[in-house]
Amino acid sequence: MTTCSAPGKVYLFGEHAVVYGEPAVPCAVERRARVSVEPRADGRVRVDAADLSLDGFTVTWGGGVDDRPDVDVPTPLLSAATEYIEAAVDQAREAAGAPETGFDITVESDIPLGAGLGSSAAVVVAGIDAATRALGTELDPEEVARRAYRAEYEVQDGQASRADTYCSAMGGAVRVEGDDTRTIDAPPLPFVVGYDGGAGDTGRLVAGVRTLREEHDFAADTVATIGDLTREGERLLAAADPETEPDDELLAELGQLMDFNHGLLEALGVSSRSLDAMVWAAREAGAHGSKLTGAGGGGCTVALDSSDETEHALGYTAECEQSFRAELATEGVRVEV
Ligand code: PMV
Repeated sequence: MTTCSAPGKVYLFGEHAVVYGEPAVPCAVERRARVSVEPRADGRVRVDAADLSLDGFTVTWGGGVDDRPDVDVPTPLLSAATEYIEAAVDQAREAAGAPETGFDITVESDIPLGAGLGSSAAVVVAGIDAATRALGTELDPEEVARRAYRAEYEVQDGQASRADTYCSAMGGAVRVEGDDTRTIDAPPLPFVVGYDGGAGDTGRLVAGVRTLREEHDFAADTVATIGDLTREGERLLAAADPETEPDDELLAELGQLMDFNHGLLEALGVSSRSLDAMVWAAREAGAHGSKLTGAGGGGCTVALDSSDETEHALGYTAECEQSFRAELATEGVRVEV
């Protein structure tokens, strides 16, 4: 049995704008997906994802990887999860030159599904690394990231940036601008996540921004402004000491940019009542700044707060189902022993 894990992420800055070539800065956080694989001689793929949703479920399918699961798929999220796993298996088979191999696969994750924390990317990244290793091939994290991007690109019909998969594979803070991906230094930022228990429809949200941007110069300017504030944020991170806790001045400056970023995302129509409520609860609790993370429409917000106040306040916010501190994950994909 080979097990690999990979972290989820929050966007410090730049989601949606990254789709149009602007830079984005996602940061990996210590919430992981773990994928265990065992090759099978009969070419079949069996997936057990009992711990993937809060309700719990198990799905099993047989046949080749080209076959659709021959089970009732209980939720759209599960359906999406199986597609990602399937695409990861394809990539691993290709990378290891073993197109016929089957696998028993177990997926566990403590990343809320489809909520802007990069759950699918983490599953794909961990899955590719585990499956290739099980076949005796070791890919470097950059190659895992490239293949994971291809897998996501396929499942999402070409609507994927490299941000989630690269961040999950590499860990830490990263910068993504088109095809240009790199890790950057960042101090240990005190992220607090709020989760409304829901999920947004990424495809619909991305399409909505695309239409707005095509139809209105002011929407195109809004997207460009997100790029500008992201570059400003990058300058702040580059000037900070990655080894020491960030001081209040840096947190205030980053927080101000996060607030601005949320306002622009709201203007582009990708926030929601619950996301706005969590953002305001964090601000009122004294967070340095707060914004939605990921595609929006529902799901998660991220705030910067070194104290317990934001986590506590979110706990009392009706729209928030769960709040938790999320440390920067300096390690990306890794083998679990
Ligand atoms: O919700 P997530 O974590 O899948 O992030 C989507 C981010 C977008 O910029 C909206 C789309 C993308 O592929 O970058």
